[in-house]
Amino acid sequence: MAPRKLIAGNWKMNLLKAEGEALVRALGGSLSGTPKPACDVLVCPPFTLLGALAPLCRETGLALGAQDCHAKSSGAFTGDVAAPMLADAGCSHVIVGHSERRSLHGEDNATVKAKAEAALAAGLVAIVCVGETEAERDSGKAEEIVVAQLLASLPQGASAKTLVVAYEPVWAIGTGRTPTVEQVADMHAALRKALGGVLSDAAGLRLLYGGSVKPGNAAELLAVANVDGALVGGASLSHGDFWAICQSC
Ligand code: G3P
Repeated sequence: MAPRKLIAGNWKMNLLKAEGEALVRALGGSLSGTPKPACDVLVCPPFTLLGALAPLCRETGLALGAQDCHAKSSGAFTGDVAAPMLADAGCSHVIVGHSERRSLHGEDNATVKAKAEAALAAGLVAIVCVGETEAERDSGKAEEIVVAQLLASLPQGASAKTLVVAYEPVWAIGTGRTPTVEQVADMHAALRKALGGVLSDAAGLRLLYGGSVKPGNAAELLAVANVDGALVGGASLSHGDFWAICQSC
């Protein structure tokens, strides 16, 4: 049976405290109303808001995640945040290997794998992001490249309960462009197959699509085989848009 869908909002480096609280309150209000969405809902705010939003998320049934963590559990790493700190702040999830971390902070697959392992060790669900650049898509080798990226980024000891994989084509992030449903279906099938070779419960693992998901294209993308939810950037900053995406499940 396909896993229950997950709609995750990656707020990136946006929103101050009052704005974040208002968004979580609005989402919580919608979640407690009817009809209930057929998905779990997760928000991933910046580190600075986690402490303030944790109690609000708990009250309203929203899951809370962070956008990154360090691979070590503590130490002299100025400016970094460790996975146990995120768990302590009330997070259940953490995104690792987002393309903005990979490209702007030079994170390679080994770093992403180490971060994901740190997340699991802290009791968090790791959301491991993978995706091809436009040049890689144009080369005709996108599936091969993304599968290799995924296998090299996977934490040891992962299972469908502790790992989520997000396929985010780099060229679709924040651009308003999306792959065709056929391209998404092919990539997700390839990722599921590759996961089947290394995880006994790969069928139950959530595979999210991310990259310019909006209310207008969410239903179509979420209906694709092997798409078990979405990782939403820009549209997650608007209650109306994000909630409309949740209701598209
Ligand atoms: O992690 C979400 C993401 O990178 C997609 O961003 O703004 O294209 O929805 P966006």
